[in-house]
Amino acid sequence: MNSKKLVVYYSMDGNTKQVAEKIHKATGADIVEIDTVIPYTGTDEEIVKQGEDEVKRKYMPQIKPLQVNLGDYDTIIIGTPTWWYTMSPAILTFITSNDFAGKTVIPFQTHAGWPGHGMKDIKDACKDASVMNEKTIKFSPQQFGLMETSEKELSKWIETLK
Ligand SMILES: Cc1cc2nc3c(=O)[nH]c(=O)nc-3n(C[C@H](O)[C@H](O)[C@H](O)COP(=O)(O)O)c2cc1C
Repeated sequence: MNSKKLVVYYSMDGNTKQVAEKIHKATGADIVEIDTVIPYTGTDEEIVKQGEDEVKRKYMPQIKPLQVNLGDYDTIIIGTPTWWYTMSPAILTFITSNDFAGKTVIPFQTHAGWPGHGMKDIKDACKDASVMNEKTIKFSPQQFGLMETSEKELSKWIETLK
């Protein structure tokens, strides 16, 4: 694969960021983080509840403008945590508000055991793109930052992104 690549990701607790940074370091792809205009606040329980409500309503929170021009890239690697069996609302906003026509999209999703239909939902949302080579990566449900998918398996996938 020899094209200009961008890793774009949303991460609330750092798991997805950890994978995005590894891709960035290993492939030299540019990297940019998505942030919501209004931060999520409250206890973990409150955020999980708010997330459930947003996912059910297909709510798209406003996100801050990205400091990159997507038009400069042929391949967009999109990373999201799983929120209620699908992509996070911030990633839904990102995908819905951009045009991926003619681009290659490689989605990845971190989860705590229940990835649901996140990858399929991203595929469906990026209608005009060629969506391929998706990956789900499992993290511990108890401890943030502890990856349960093996480093070997992750590295093998990252190799295919070079
Ligand atoms: C609102 C919310 C909903 C979640 N729903 C799921 C889920 O449906 N399935 C799952 O496996 N993990 C779920 N999780 C756990 C996260 O997907 C998992 O910890 C992920 O790796 C976090 O990524 P991050 O650290 O980049 O935010 C949820 C977490 C939050 C905050």
